[in-house]
Amino acid sequence: MPQLSTRHLLGIKDLTQNDIQLILETATQFKDVINRPIKKVPSLRDITIANVFFENSTRTRLSFELAEKRLSADVVNFSASGSSVKKGETLLDTVNNILAMKVDMIVMRHSSPGAPHYLSSRIPANVVNAGDGTHEHPTQALLDSFSMREKLGDLAGKRIAIIGDITHSRVALSNIFCLQKQGADVMVCGPTTLIPKHMASLGVRVSHDVREALQWCDVANVLRIQLERQQIKYFPSLREYSLYFGISRQMLDELDRPIVLMHPGPINRGVELTSDAADSPHSIILDQVENGVAVRMAVLYLLAQER
Ligand code: CP
Repeated sequence: MPQLSTRHLLGIKDLTQNDIQLILETATQFKDVINRPIKKVPSLRDITIANVFFENSTRTRLSFELAEKRLSADVVNFSASGSSVKKGETLLDTVNNILAMKVDMIVMRHSSPGAPHYLSSRIPANVVNAGDGTHEHPTQALLDSFSMREKLGDLAGKRIAIIGDITHSRVALSNIFCLQKQGADVMVCGPTTLIPKHMASLGVRVSHDVREALQWCDVANVLRIQLERQQIKYFPSLREYSLYFGISRQMLDELDRPIVLMHPGPINRGVELTSDAADSPHSIILDQVENGVAVRMAVLYLLAQER
């Protein structure tokens, strides 16, 4: 049986092309499972998974929990708020205490880039990165690729524009790695202040003109302005951002050819996307959420084979 080259999922940067193919192909099988009347398989019946979230989440947290339950794993959920982290316990002590209760896998979201990498070298459990600060969000990139492939087939040669706050986005970096490993052509687009200078060195195109990006791409993956991570003003006002970089349904309808609109959520309606764009036939935003469960089932199932 084919296996992953790693026992943790810390970032897309560490995955091989074969790993990505294997995860996406396995997810296709799990998508069939979750569309059956009985959505559950016994694959992880003997495994206990802790979802350890030090940062807010709606989609990722629920999606992992559903994926785990549909694989018949035992699941415990931990939030930093309301925990003994507030009393000064370290990350490693917190996780080692959770592992002492016979937990096999840790799914972790943390505001510090590298936190899951730090843990993975110090604990015996498999670690899955559910988003580490502004660094990587590997399962989001995998579910984004899965969703693009459902619409467009093989991504080699396809043009993907990632539009918005690239500087503060973990989704952008994971998507760039994931798409490039599949042979896609990637552009990042946003205000100069929200595109890090090192982007061009990653081999992506850079644009500051949203209409140019939309005209160029097959897929527009639009990112949220992450005000909670911005210590200084990167643009004069949300109104001005929306005026120059916001995407409306009319802009999408006026393009010469079909375009797929994506967003990892949560959406700031009226800022990066108008409601009529987010809810338009161009949008596959809720398909992304549906696919997230199948992709996370695939990741957990494959990592469990490495045990
Ligand atoms: N896309 C994403 O990571 O959403 P949440 O922050 O709600 O998990």
